[in-house]
Amino acid sequence: MGKQSYKKGLEGVIAAESKICRINGEKGKLYFRGYSIEELVEHCTYEEITYLLLYGMLPKKPELEDFSSRIRSFRSLPEQIRQMIHEFPSGAHPMELLQSVMSYLSSYVSHKIQHSIYCNCRDTLHQISQMTTVAATFARFREGKKYVPPRDDLSHGANFLYMLHDREPDPIEGDIMDKCFILHVEHGFNASTFTSRVVASTMSTCYCSISAAMGALYGFLHGGANERVLEMIEEIGDKKNVKDWIDKSLKEKRKVMGMGHRVYKAKDPRAKVIEKYLYQLSEKYNNFYYYEILKEIEDVFGDRMKDKGKLIYPNVDFFSGAVYRLLGIKPILFTPIFASARIAGWLAHILEQREDNRIFRPRSLYTGPEETPFVQIDKR
Ligand code: COA
Repeated sequence: MGKQSYKKGLEGVIAAESKICRINGEKGKLYFRGYSIEELVEHCTYEEITYLLLYGMLPKKPELEDFSSRIRSFRSLPEQIRQMIHEFPSGAHPMELLQSVMSYLSSYVSHKIQHSIYCNCRDTLHQISQMTTVAATFARFREGKKYVPPRDDLSHGANFLYMLHDREPDPIEGDIMDKCFILHVEHGFNASTFTSRVVASTMSTCYCSISAAMGALYGFLHGGANERVLEMIEEIGDKKNVKDWIDKSLKEKRKVMGMGHRVYKAKDPRAKVIEKYLYQLSEKYNNFYYYEILKEIEDVFGDRMKDKGKLIYPNVDFFSGAVYRLLGIKPILFTPIFASARIAGWLAHILEQREDNRIFRPRSLYTGPEETPFVQIDKR
């Protein structure tokens, strides 16, 4: 056989056609169904973007009202699922819980599995609405607090904060949380989205496809970076320590978390938006601790890398963890928030996969031994 080549990690390999998300890494631009993320995040709610992703177009007013009321009607958790959260091993990570609940829902919720683009994913919106309730309830139970039933008069983001803190957030907090869900809802053919499409391509259910995608997102190379940014801030402790900390990290060849991106070679457009939210919240609470350290890291690390001829900018994870901390959210919930937001994107990809399905079946480049004579066990 002639010499074959392959791309490790399938980097840059085109694995499917898609009309959902376009990223221009050189210019730092991101579009969902042709609309720029900056415009979407400024004018839309998370529910509106979910509609855009699932139906391929922005909703008209009555369509959005109907969609929002459907999605909100699924927010509360049946007793069985609350029980499941209660009994989940206390040392388990909430991502494992989310994955289990997703699989459990598949048999618990009455639905018809139809393997077509008309699959009832667009009806069974509880997948999207209930995961934020699961995350908030998990956080409350582990602190010995009671379940807070959701409210259907609040946005997706505001309701999440309400269920978590048992207090209605003020409008700025609710709005910022909702926008953070938008900024995490979709991002092309990353590892978890690809996973969801691979599973969907076997004509498995959307529940199994999403639960597999959650497993992929759980890994710290994918969904867990913002948690580590927070650890980094705690380690640095003060703006004046940043320079020494960066120099030490570079010497030790440690990665600066939240900086750099495989696709963006400019500042991640989502980071630009979240940075503004962080500033807004820092002003509101008169607490610039996170903001000042992060901006100093961005400047110092950016300069050090520039000196080496590399341009490295913040990614979406750089500022998001600090925003969540100011909203009173503990780091253990950061990846579950990401996963809850991303379900709408995964569902859009699952539906698209089914429109023109072909089961994924790549090959590996075999590098093992040639045909080898068998040796009986007593002669080995
Ligand atoms: N800290 C230190 N060095 C970094 C860096 C970081 N955060 N990001 C990139 N670099 C270095 C790379 O190691 C590479 O060095 P080299 O030329 O000596 O091999 C160089 O800068 C160019 O990197 P680039 O090709 O632009 O990025 P990449 O594809 O190698 O890495 C990431 C992309 C995301 C894996 C990397 O930036 C990273 O690990 N970032 C921190 C983790 C993180 O925030 N992840 C969330 C991503 S959304």
